Amino acid sequence: MLEKLSQVTTSAPGKLMLFGDHAVVYGYPCIVTAIDERINVTVTKVDVATFTVQAPDVGVDNYTRTFAELKAGDTPKGVAFLQALFYLFLEGFPQSEGVSVTTQSEFSSNFGFGSSSAVTVAFGKALCELYQVELDNFELFHLCYQAVLAVQGVGSGFDIASAIWGGTIYYKTPASVVEPLAAEEIPLVVGYTGIKADTGTLVRSVAEKKRQHPEEIEAVFQQIEKLTELARTALMDEDWQTAGELMTQNQSLLAQLEVSSQELDNLIDAAMENEAFGAKLSGAGGGDCMVALAEERATVEAALTQKGGEVMRVKPHASGVRVESRS
Ligand code: MEV
Repeated sequence: MLEKLSQVTTSAPGKLMLFGDHAVVYGYPCIVTAIDERINVTVTKVDVATFTVQAPDVGVDNYTRTFAELKAGDTPKGVAFLQALFYLFLEGFPQSEGVSVTTQSEFSSNFGFGSSSAVTVAFGKALCELYQVELDNFELFHLCYQAVLAVQGVGSGFDIASAIWGGTIYYKTPASVVEPLAAEEIPLVVGYTGIKADTGTLVRSVAEKKRQHPEEIEAVFQQIEKLTELARTALMDEDWQTAGELMTQNQSLLAQLEVSSQELDNLIDAAMENEAFGAKLSGAGGGDCMVALAEERATVEAALTQKGGEVMRVKPHASGVRVESRS
């Protein structure tokens, strides 16, 4: 017989997109790596049908809803993903006992590291443990992806897959392909522009461009697909020179989609002037972080700082969602 649990703590990693940004929304592949900055979620069972959240990192203090109130549309931003997920979980696996949830993040939600997907995945995993519902990675993915789509409306789900599988994955939406790549030692440098990007706005701007110039934009996506395929091999061969050159090519295609920004370009140029193998924006663009591959990481990091960027010392290829403790 399974022991009855009253509390579970899980954690899930943030992510950085290495190749295929934006094109992945339209069914093309991307490559994403999980990073060693995590979000922890502790879920405690309560004997009433309520959902309570403490999320101090995003300013949520003792937010409580009854099960009947979960569908309400007035959800504050800091709890929206958790509440959407809990609502969907209860639809699939009805329960009479509620939960109290506490989240704690090792990184700011401003960096574009995928805090919403990481918290959703960590919570989903904790719920499965606590209520003893067995879901494989794909089932957990689809539960979390539905929650993210319910809140955000758009997204390829690559960030959810990264938080679940961890490591470095080659991904096609909606988890129709998830292929782990053996690329532990990626010599990654990460620079934060200091600007928070709005993914939804940028994804919609690309959609609008695609509507106006369908053939041109499709051609850009096809070129991104080609280089993502080449990058998959280069990363597994640890051929950082080739992978870097492909990153730079990916950046010029993203510039054609008009999702880069002056701040991103400044940091990318600084990396390239300091002998990085290659560099590009990571994620939606417009701000957030850029990534570079470099032999002399310290030199590139110094150049990024000099240009006003903030160096994020994160390790790629981190482990996916995991249970940290149960009692
Ligand atoms: C945003 O981090 C990455 C995009 O490709 C959107 C998505 O894949 O959901 C722009």
